[in-house]
Formats: sequence, C-alpha cells, structure tokens
Amino acid sequence: MNISTFKIANKLITGNGATECLLQEVERLGMKNPLIVTDEILQKIGVIEKIQSLLKGISYGVFTGVEPEPEFYVVEECTEVFRKGMHDGLIAVGGGSAIDTAKAVSAFSPFEGNLIELVGTDLVPVKGAPIIAIPTTAGTGSEVTNISILSDKDAQLKKGIVSDYLLPDVAIVAPEMTLTMPPSVTSASGIDALVHAIEAYISVNASPITDALAIGAMKMIGKSLPKAYANPNNVEAREQMATASLMAGMAFGNAGVGAVHALAYPLGGRYHIAHGVSNALLLPFVMEWNKISCVERFRDIAEALGEKTDGLSDSEAADKAVQAMKRLCSEVNIPKGLHAFHIPEEAIPDMAEDASKNNRLLKNNPRLLSKLDIEQIYRSAY
Ligand SMILES: NC(=O)c1ccc[n+]([C@@H]2O[C@H](COP(=O)([O-])OP(=O)(O)OC[C@H]3O[C@@H](n4cnc5c(N)ncnc54)[C@H](O)[C@@H]3O)[C@@H](O)[C@H]2O)c1
Ligand SMILES: [Fe+2]
Repeated sequence: MNISTFKIANKLITGNGATECLLQEVERLGMKNPLIVTDEILQKIGVIEKIQSLLKGISYGVFTGVEPEPEFYVVEECTEVFRKGMHDGLIAVGGGSAIDTAKAVSAFSPFEGNLIELVGTDLVPVKGAPIIAIPTTAGTGSEVTNISILSDKDAQLKKGIVSDYLLPDVAIVAPEMTLTMPPSVTSASGIDALVHAIEAYISVNASPITDALAIGAMKMIGKSLPKAYANPNNVEAREQMATASLMAGMAFGNAGVGAVHALAYPLGGRYHIAHGVSNALLLPFVMEWNKISCVERFRDIAEALGEKTDGLSDSEAADKAVQAMKRLCSEVNIPKGLHAFHIPEEAIPDMAEDASKNNRLLKNNPRLLSKLDIEQIYRSAY
C-alpha cells in the first residue's frame, strides 16, 4: 500500500439545522468581526438574512460581489473590503464560487504581492484568516478541499491556488441551505459532484479511504440527483445530495480529479460554461477513453449507479457504467454537444493545447492522453 495523506476541513458539522452552530464556531475561532462572502442572488432570496440572524451580538460585514466562476478581480475587491473593514475571519455562504472567493481572500489578504503570484501549488506563504464554509449547492465539495479555482479572463483559463492553508476551519453542511437551488444549478452542481466521485475512484492516487467515500457518494447521487432535480423540495433527496457532495469532495480533495476536469476547464475559461455543465458535456467521452485502463473499477461504478452486472464480462459491465452516466446527465437535462454552446469547431486545437498543459490534473488520470487524443475527445463531444 502506498503512503497517502488525507486532509479535509478541520471540523465538519452536518445535518438539517447545522447552521445553528455558526455563532459558537465564530466564537471558538476567535472571530470578532468576520466578513460574510456571498452573492447578490443569495442575499435577494433571504439566505443571508437567515445567516445574519444567527450572528447576534457580533459585528460583521457582508460582501455580495461574488460572481459565478469568479475572476481575479472579485477576489481583489473582496480583499479590499476585508482589509479596510479590519475583518478577522471569513464566512463563505454560497456555491463553490463564494467558497473559493473566501478561500482566496484568506490567502491573499496578508500577502504583499499580486494575487497571480499565489496561483500554483504551495505558493501561499502563511495561513490567513480562519474560514467557515457553508455550501448552498451540492456541489463542489469546496468546503473540504485545499483549492480555490479562479477565472483568468486575459488568459481565458481557469487557474487554481492550491495550498493546505486554504482548507476551511469549519464546514457547515446544512442540506436545507440547498432547497432554493433552481433545477439548472441542482443538475450542474450535482453532476460536478458525481464527476468528483468517479474521477477520484479511478485516479492513480485513489486509496481505500477515498474509494469508500467515492463509491458511497456515487450510490447516493445516482439515486437522489434525479429526485432533487424533479422536485426541489424533496428534503430527503437534498439531504442525500448535500452529504454525497461532501463525501465526493473529501474523495477528490485527496485522490484528485483527472481528464474530465482538465478538458472541462477550457470550456469554462473561454466560453464561461458553468463548471458542472462543462464536466457533464465531456464525462461520457472521457470515460469511454479511460475504460480500458481500469475495467474492474468501471464495473464498480456501474454497480454503484444501480446497473445490474451479473453475468457480464468486465468490459460489458464497464460499458454499462458509461451508459448510466449518459442516462443520468440526460435525466437532469444537461444539453448535449459542445456545438449547443456555440463553441466554434476551429477552437478545438487551441482548447486541446490548453487542456494538455494541465499536468496537475492529467497526472491523476488512469490513461495517458496526448494533445491529439484530447482533440479527438473534444471532436467526439462536439
Ligand atoms: N474549490 C474546489 O474544490 C472546487 C471544486 C469544484 C468546483 N469549484 C468551482 O466552483 C464554482 C462553481 O460552483 P457551484 O457549482 O457551486 O455554483 P456557483 O457557486 O457558481 O453558483 C451558481 C449560481 O447558483 C446560485 N445559487 C447557489 N446556491 C443557491 C441556492 N441555494 N439557491 C438559489 N441560488 C443558488 C448562485 O447565486 C449562482 O448564481 C466554479 O468556479 C468551479 O470551478 C471549486
Ligand atoms: Fe469539479
């Protein structure tokens, strides 16, 4: 067995009503003047008011400038508010975009250089202000990972700040926070969680610990995502999805994700397609490519997604896994084909060039990909 480390947020608080623990955690972490980091939509629909009502007797600020797939300037603006307001902690309330913004602000606020200098692995010099992450999507798993993904508009790329100092101090996963998600966000973020589980399970860095989390998450997502999509108020399905996305986050935060994410980033960076949708567009095609590298693992995926594999060869069972992924994406209405997003076919070689440089992710993938292989996958997904 290889040596592997396992890292997640320092404390997880889960279950309906878990936000009731917020004040206690704010005080425990010594936050006297935290900044709530969120977006305008969540403020408008009353989610932030609820969080504010839990912070009685504490002075705090609210930053509502987060945008989906945040660009560097969002972090710079939020950091300015953080510094000027002399804040001493961050409470991220939102999807991956709000949580990633708060994580980047924690890293950037004590730093004297430019934000871009922190992009890469282990370039954050000190631990910044403590972070409490409260996800409202299910989801990215960002509440338990050591990465913040930001959009570099000039380079048309999505880039990551990767550092253990970004691991949140507390993750409060309260499923009721996700009830207001519209179906399109439920499906995109839910497929993202599924991709995290699948890519962690077939990653070359998978361990028995990440395997158990990944398979558990796949089983729950396969059953619950269509239900949560069909009926946003299905509390049980929302609970399952919130827990599964947390488990998938713990799995990929340690085993890593692979080629689906590497190929999806250029779609987000260049064409601003939501992260979960970019993943979903590529998932079946990358998995078709990966299949021969670990057919036994694909059999496990098929079974976790509810397929019957008795009497089938590993290769036939692996095909069932890919079919199950396709069916799930179609049930939750993910549009098919890159052409549906007006991506010009001529852009494929440039996207393949960008994706092929993402060694941070491609090195986790169970099958090697050349730039030409990547181009071919984009063409199949077109
Ligand atoms: N750091 C990580 O480990 C990690 C992992 C995966 C993805 N990501 C990043 O996360 C981002 C995507 O995050 P996301 O998929 O959670 O979406 P998001 O945070 O971008 O939110 C999408 C939209 O949904 C709205 N929304 C969120 N929760 C809602 C709720 N409960 N009710 C109503 N509306 C709600 C938001 O206001 C926003 O308009 C991408 O930038 C992606 O790259 C990060
Ligand atoms: Fe993701």
